Amino acid sequence: MALLELDSVHKRFGGLKAVNDVSFAVEEKSIKAVIGPNGAGKTTLFNLIAGSLPSTSGSIVFNGQELNRRKPYQIAGLGIARTFQNIKMFNGMTALENVMVGRHVQSRAGFISSMFRLPRTWQEEKDIYTKAMGLLDFLEIGEYANMEATSLSFGQQRAVELARALALEPTLLLLDEPAAGLNIYETAEVGRLITKIRDLGITVLLVEHDMSLVMDISDEIVVLSFGEKIAEGLPVDIQNNSEVIKVYLGE
Ligand SMILES: Nc1ncnc2c1ncn2[C@@H]1O[C@H](COP(=O)(O)OP(=O)(O)OP(=O)(O)O)[C@@H](O)[C@H]1O
Ligand SMILES: [Mg+2]
Repeated sequence: MALLELDSVHKRFGGLKAVNDVSFAVEEKSIKAVIGPNGAGKTTLFNLIAGSLPSTSGSIVFNGQELNRRKPYQIAGLGIARTFQNIKMFNGMTALENVMVGRHVQSRAGFISSMFRLPRTWQEEKDIYTKAMGLLDFLEIGEYANMEATSLSFGQQRAVELARALALEPTLLLLDEPAAGLNIYETAEVGRLITKIRDLGITVLLVEHDMSLVMDISDEIVVLSFGEKIAEGLPVDIQNNSEVIKVYLGE
């Protein structure tokens, strides 16, 4: 079953067609990758799904519900979490606190009270702590929980980011270039973590430039070029697609 369905999605910035008539579906519990040269419209597509930008036209249906015109926090509430192209750790906070921030948004006392630092119940705080710690353990960085997040390696910071996104208990995770800035060992590790997340039953849509990672972990791949979908299929089909090869060699 498709968890996410895009149908003829368009996004224009002035005269620029950043996303032009893009349609595809993401199967439940799969890893799907969106690839394409710089400026192809990949991040814009994520912004449309997450609600940070409105689509010009077309429909985006998640779990049977139309996402158009919903606010980012409503879309997050429906079960879509994301990480960003550049790592965003909160300064002066430990790895654990960075994850707990993600969880607070979801808690009953909620976002407003975390903004105003209203007291939560002791039990609520304890549950958030236990869940955040469990996520850091799951992503294999539990031993760094009390270290300042910005002092960790980029690979470990990526894992903290993944934990923070998982704290929202998403069914769909959008990852924008999870291997950006990582060395080949860290990239392989992050790939393994993404597979572990999928194995929990979470659907993953990822944008990535690292082709070895994409080919390794994706069930399916969509290729964008200048806002348009030029190919879609299994990794082996994409690797041998002449139009895809042309777009990449022409870069
Ligand atoms: N908020 C915006 N306002 C105006 N133009 C934008 C905006 N966001 C993106 N664009 C333009 O839309 C096009 C697609 O950009 P986008 O960031 O989606 O590409 P991308 O595929 O994520 O590229 P990269 O691989 O470099 O991250 C680019 O031409 C970009 O300049
Ligand atoms: Mg981008």
